[in-house]
Amino acid sequence: MDITELYRIAAEERDRRKPKRIRCCTAAGCQSSGAEAVLKALKDGIATAGLTEDVEVSSVGCLRFCGRGPLVATDPDGKLYEQVTAEDASSFAAGMQAGTVKAQPCDPHQPFFAGQQPIVLENSGQIDPERIEEYIAAGGYESLYRALYDLTPVEVVEEITQSGLRGRGGGGYPTGLKWATVAKMPGDQKYVICNADEGDPGAFMDRSVLESDPHRVLEGMAIADMRLVQIMDLSTSGLNIPWRSRI
Ligand code: FES
Repeated sequence: MDITELYRIAAEERDRRKPKRIRCCTAAGCQSSGAEAVLKALKDGIATAGLTEDVEVSSVGCLRFCGRGPLVATDPDGKLYEQVTAEDASSFAAGMQAGTVKAQPCDPHQPFFAGQQPIVLENSGQIDPERIEEYIAAGGYESLYRALYDLTPVEVVEEITQSGLRGRGGGGYPTGLKWATVAKMPGDQKYVICNADEGDPGAFMDRSVLESDPHRVLEGMAIADMRLVQIMDLSTSGLNIPWRSRI
């Protein structure tokens, strides 16, 4: 696959979008408070109202106010609703037309949200985590492509270091330092493992990424796997890879 293929998938995904969208969080927190029933009721309500051509109902990851779930967001108005029930869901069909949904509003500008700047979780709640096309339409896998074809392995590690990316555990270990250390280690076979262990009880910072934006994890692992291993391989082998001369 080359970059034009990636762009084609992204463009097709954007073209298939309907004018309106209802995003229902079905991540673990909202699932525990009945999100699956809400999602079904939303889909049934839109279908019964004959709005399936205009309104898409999507299952998305965490909308970041888990304690008030199930949460539902509507586009393009950007409104957010909390503690939505299956009974409320029927009002979304009428409300999407008239602009008056009868569910409990949740202020997306309240202090809880105001101090947050999602970076790793920027796609969380925005995309259906089970549709790779949505991840690609959000720019997904472009970094992997760039890491493979535009940057040398050393440049990849430098860029990760410069980004300030840190681990999500309590130590916040710098990812660039970790990658640079692995790259220097001897051995012609290395492994990238996603252990996703939640060392802090109830924090769920790993689960948030895995369940809300899994392709982000896969893409990061692929970059680490392809580039760190190749740094070592190239120092000892005669592999004829396009970027070898740039190391
Ligand atoms: S799990 Fe639904 S808002 Fe976090």
